[in-house]
Amino acid sequence: MFGNEDVLVCSCNYITDKEIREVINGLLDEDCWQLIVPAKVYHAMEKRGRCCGCFPNVVDIIIRTTEEYHARRDSTDDEIFDFMSRLKQFHEENRRADIERRQKGHRAA
Ligand code: FES
Repeated sequence: MFGNEDVLVCSCNYITDKEIREVINGLLDEDCWQLIVPAKVYHAMEKRGRCCGCFPNVVDIIIRTTEEYHARRDSTDDEIFDFMSRLKQFHEENRRADIERRQKGHRAA
């Protein structure tokens, strides 16, 4: 499935799956237990989300790459499980806040 192929994830900034994974791995090298969000990845690339339509995909890549990163290290299963639950919950909350924000914006418009 997702091997090393180069898939275009963000068409606004022309960013590929591979570039995103590289940045995530770099961020995890700095602090492997940090919670990464798409804006942080783009900021590290000196890019910005424009339409932000790619963010859900970037979240998926963040989760998958983080999981793989810890699988390669000697983190214990408990540590990984705990961290991945927090990461997924964090993104879920962000996603919900995002939807709410959009709905509010819509109503105000
Ligand atoms: S597709 Fe990534 S910001 Fe628009």
